[in-house]
Amino acid sequence: MPPARHSTAYIDPGSDTVRVLQLTDTHLRRVSGGTLLGVDTDRSLQAVIDLARAERWPADLVLATGDLSDNGSGDAYRRLLGYFDQLCPRSFWLPGNHDEREAMQAVVQGSEHLCREVRVGTWQILLLDSQVDGEVGGELGAAERELLDARLCDARDAGLFSLVCLHHQPVPVGCAWLDQQMLADAEAFFAILDRYNGVRGVLWGHVHQQVDVERRGVRLLASPSTCVQFAPGSASFKADAAPPGYRWLELHADGRIETGVSRVRDIHFDVDLDSPGYL
Ligand SMILES: [Fe+2]
Repeated sequence: MPPARHSTAYIDPGSDTVRVLQLTDTHLRRVSGGTLLGVDTDRSLQAVIDLARAERWPADLVLATGDLSDNGSGDAYRRLLGYFDQLCPRSFWLPGNHDEREAMQAVVQGSEHLCREVRVGTWQILLLDSQVDGEVGGELGAAERELLDARLCDARDAGLFSLVCLHHQPVPVGCAWLDQQMLADAEAFFAILDRYNGVRGVLWGHVHQQVDVERRGVRLLASPSTCVQFAPGSASFKADAAPPGYRWLELHADGRIETGVSRVRDIHFDVDLDSPGYL
């Protein structure tokens, strides 16, 4: 793997509270104006960015938790740089099942966007790769789990709290069709987290809906897509009319996480709710 994928980025938050924006599942098409289930994913992303700038700006960093391009297009990743720069130059990306690692790397080569760890204030943020080539479902695998274990060990030694990010959900979210795609090695993932008291949150994308639950004192968080949403509680694929949105997080110096989701309200997006799928 290229060295950049294992590097650490350092950010001075400028205050005791680290202000984070999570934008996920942007699904940008190859050409601006391309649609997913009837939604122009560039237009919906811009609406979410405008909302975040009105509500939660400036931020210390942006977390982009996968499915950033809908089909792994380099043109989509190049446009994404411009979008995220409107929020913050410090954006950190991880791949989802729709992404192409090589295309992402080619666009951001030499930058920090694909680094695996951010240290900011009293926090460590880890970005894991749960993408499995050619598969919709996710798995970390031994190398990623070793990376997780080693970096959490470093954080413990440094007295840092940890927020762990990945694309696929490590717990079922209540949609049977999506939960067939959850992290295959979730049990091993949590076995590692359970060894470190400083882990305070796990944050993911993929499910295109909001989740906020707790497991053994660790906040488990999923977030709406910046384009199309999936209907909570659906047994088979079902899109939802809920608007595009983003998650904000405030990471406090004492390890507390304050967080919430905000959605675009003043623009209508006409989602094809009858579609049987979107792959
Ligand atoms: Fe997605």
